[in-house]
Amino acid sequence: MHKVTAIYPGSFDPPTNGHLDLVERGSKIFDELVVAILRNAEKSPLFSVTERVAMLEALTAHYGNVRVDTFDGLTVDYAARVGASSLLRGIRALSDYEYELQMALMNRKLRPELETVFMMPAEKYSYLSSRLVREVAQLGGSVKGLVPELVEQNLRGKLDPAYKLTEFSAQGEQKSEGRKSKARKKA
Ligand code: PNS
Repeated sequence: MHKVTAIYPGSFDPPTNGHLDLVERGSKIFDELVVAILRNAEKSPLFSVTERVAMLEALTAHYGNVRVDTFDGLTVDYAARVGASSLLRGIRALSDYEYELQMALMNRKLRPELETVFMMPAEKYSYLSSRLVREVAQLGGSVKGLVPELVEQNLRGKLDPAYKLTEFSAQGEQKSEGRKSKARKKA
């Protein structure tokens, strides 16, 4: 029978429970699901591509039909290279829709035979994004339950020890300066 391969492209910086929820759903409807990390999406990502690959491989190792890969260039060209007929994306809230629709229609224009499939993650993850996870973690907030434990540990490892020192030793202005200086800008 015809095997259906889907790619699930994204930045995954870092992978969240929302991403993994989608991998789980995707693994059930596609014969093969390739989690595809875009290289060079962000000039200064929090996690290197190698780190993201390692995390996603560990987190998806229990699926027999999911693998992790990286790509450069157009997603549609990558899909063609791996023989994928579907492109999986998650839609959380209405606010995602416009951007996702634009991407899906542009991808369709570029490669009509590639079908974008949208799936909704569990509603408990509907407000979750990698950008917010990074911001909260870097400012010292808890991301428990929002990312897998492995990612949580790795996020902790990324926190600058100097920043932690400022957190504990400084007061008032100094403390908030420390917070500001460590805040990253965008997803
Ligand atoms: O996780 P993200 O950052 O929302 O993923 C966005 C991604 C990687 C799917 C998108 O930026 C992408 O497909 N980039 C590759 C370049 C490309 O094909 N651009 C045209 C998309 S219409």
